[in-house]
Amino acid sequence: MFDVTKSLLQKLELNELNTQNIELFVKRDDLIDEHVSGNKWRKLKFNVEQAKTLKKYGILTFGGAYSNHIVATAAACHQSGLKAIGIVRGDELNEDSNPTLRQCADFGMELHFVSRLDYAARYEKSYHEELNFEFPNYLIVPEGGANYYGMIGCQEILKETPNDYDYVFVAQGTTTTSIGLALALPETTKLLVVPVLKGFDSLGEMKSLLGYTGFESSMIDDVLAKVDVLDEYHFGGYGKYTDELIDFMERVFSETRLPLDPIYTGKVLYAIQDWLLKSDIKNKRILFVHTGGIQGGKMIAKKEGRRFS
Ligand SMILES: Cc1ncc(COP(=O)(O)O)c(C=O)c1O
Repeated sequence: MFDVTKSLLQKLELNELNTQNIELFVKRDDLIDEHVSGNKWRKLKFNVEQAKTLKKYGILTFGGAYSNHIVATAAACHQSGLKAIGIVRGDELNEDSNPTLRQCADFGMELHFVSRLDYAARYEKSYHEELNFEFPNYLIVPEGGANYYGMIGCQEILKETPNDYDYVFVAQGTTTTSIGLALALPETTKLLVVPVLKGFDSLGEMKSLLGYTGFESSMIDDVLAKVDVLDEYHFGGYGKYTDELIDFMERVFSETRLPLDPIYTGKVLYAIQDWLLKSDIKNKRILFVHTGGIQGGKMIAKKEGRRFS
């Protein structure tokens, strides 16, 4: 439905790394689709297939007022002939509160605005039972597409590459994408994850998502053994960024035309360069998985009057 052959594998030349003989590639999942971009389609693909196989009316999911996942779900359901329901955090909001929510409504998503207290129950079984009663025959997909089907969809990213890198780098929020990548990696490759939240327990979160989705503990240990965490590149926490990060992204954009966003992908590419320089690593093949976020990146670039997206 969405064409993953648009996700090119490109070589990226960063001037700073010239002397270290680093071969850096970027998997351009941001090119898959304007709305269902980056890891969004990867996480939704098998959820959409599952909803169709089970003959559900559609997908019900959760998100904040600016959630990329909720718009992507609205667009993917629209395209695949499924209905969509979005449970949105904040009962003071409505569908005209911001462009993200407007877009969801334009794709035909039915939006329900709930209090922060109700939203806090989004992982609880009893709340899902209530939702199943109110909206029968919908597949419930967790916030951020963080379920088994989401992880399995993210495995496919590496199958479209030679999958022979020394290091693979990716941003981390719910950990779904990084788990999918870790599941698909050979033992000779390290996955370096860059959490975008401050004080995030990356390995703990990965362990609990793997456990929750039914993986056995020996398999969880095998997956986590492939992962190293770079937890010093959150730039203050989720949604935060600094002038130093924006300057870096602008430089990359002018040198390579690679669009980045300051919430996820800018932080990862900054981490790649900084970590390689500080650790004086040479002669390696590296993959940077570009997980999208460009819509948000464009909005921030406009607000800041800068060019990086
Ligand atoms: C652009 C972008 N990159 C990376 C991530 C992090 O992915 P995950 O939540 O699967 O860890 C997200 C959040 O879904 C995102 O929107």
